[in-house]
Amino acid sequence: MDVITMALAKGRLAEETFSLLEKLGVDCSEPRNPGRQLVLWDRKSSIRFILVKPSDVPVYVDHGVADLGVVGKDTLMESGRPLYEVLDLTFGKCRLCVAGYADRDSIPVTRANFRVATKYPHIARSYYDGKGQTIEIIKLNGSVELGPVIGLSDVILDIVESGSTLKANGLSILEEICDVSARLVVNRVSLKTKRERIQWMIDGLGREVRALP
Ligand code: PRP
Repeated sequence: MDVITMALAKGRLAEETFSLLEKLGVDCSEPRNPGRQLVLWDRKSSIRFILVKPSDVPVYVDHGVADLGVVGKDTLMESGRPLYEVLDLTFGKCRLCVAGYADRDSIPVTRANFRVATKYPHIARSYYDGKGQTIEIIKLNGSVELGPVIGLSDVILDIVESGSTLKANGLSILEEICDVSARLVVNRVSLKTKRERIQWMIDGLGREVRALP
């Protein structure tokens, strides 16, 4: 039996994925308790899991060292990699938004350039290019909401889940860009060379997702 390798982002997306896979009979006991190990197996099903940072999931799948991956739509869009997105897994739901002070007079600093602080510079570039608006992007790696609060940027482009981080920092959603959820992605070559096993996985996960409450 061909070995299938699946790249998963550590954390909630991986946990949700294990729950679906277990319904298909995959034994996820090893990847659920990985310790410091990064390669985990269900040897009976010949499925190998690698646990990586979210933004690295598309990298492993694009290079073909992972056949499949589960990744947020936001991370997938930012990666710009040409992967087959075969299934919306429906969990990990949030929205990609532009946020800032609803009342522009509260912006502490005014400057010539409109500044956007974000973890998603590629998405920001293409979004504002699409609107024909010139902006300066400030790439941050977390706590992006600080941007407008401390006067580093005019707005942020970020994911909003419950909205509590925005609220706690006095910010509001100004523009909604798109809905985000976890996606199953597949390497283009793997889809041909391991078609039967990968199709089994796509069909099975699709069935289980549709059965979710
Ligand atoms: C994400 C995101 C927002 C927050 C949104 O950050 O960048 O800051 O969650 O969630 P909420 O709408 O439910 O408040 P994350 O928690 O991943 O931490 P980070 O800021 O360090 O990236």
